[in-house]
Amino acid sequence: MAGTPELVAQAVAAARHIGFPVTADDPGHGCGSASLPGTGRFLAVLAGGCHGGRIAELGTGTGIGSAWIVSAMPADATLVTAEIDPARAAAAAEVLAIDPRVAVLIGDWRALLPPLAPFDLIFADCGVRDRREFGSLVGMLTPGGRIVMDDVTPELALPADSPLRDYDPKRALFEAEDLLLWTEVVLPDLRNSLLVGTRIS
Ligand SMILES: C[S@@+](CC[C@H](N)C(=O)[O-])C[C@H]1O[C@@H](n2cnc3c(N)ncnc32)[C@H](O)[C@@H]1O
Repeated sequence: MAGTPELVAQAVAAARHIGFPVTADDPGHGCGSASLPGTGRFLAVLAGGCHGGRIAELGTGTGIGSAWIVSAMPADATLVTAEIDPARAAAAAEVLAIDPRVAVLIGDWRALLPPLAPFDLIFADCGVRDRREFGSLVGMLTPGGRIVMDDVTPELALPADSPLRDYDPKRALFEAEDLLLWTEVVLPDLRNSLLVGTRIS
């Protein structure tokens, strides 16, 4: 896969159309915004290996992460993605309607996704911070399945006095989860990183 898939460009256009922030300069950026290209490419790399796999996303936005995933996943893989905001879900559903392997669900992932588990890959992109909730998400993975969170700032990119140097709630979630082997992946922009874990048993 070279460059940005056409479906991703369509999801970005849909975000701009409904005012869902895409770049750091867009109003409202930071409190629920679109996935970065580096995140999307990383998701594509993992999705590309999900033969016969079941993939889930928490927080669809307008479908940018989903578009990266479906552009790379094998023909026999499926994706289900849940979005609580009806306007965003509708925009994503329109973009992703072209691919019958994708289901865009409207509502809270907590109600919609557990009955559909287990999954081989979960992109948790809607602000999960609670340890018990994160544990239940890990429980929704198959053994060997992977979970990804984004919007983490690498330690070297943090201001010297940032409290996140001592305690980052997302890193703490991964650290506390015995079922996960995990690491942090710094994106090529060196300003953002991802946490990725594999369920080991
Ligand atoms: C960071 S954005 C998602 C970006 C998207 N994954 C992408 O690739 O561009 C987080 C989204 O999660 C949604 N959200 C927040 N809480 C949710 C919940 N409990 N269930 C489903 N979606 C939720 C928000 O409405 C928001 O659109």
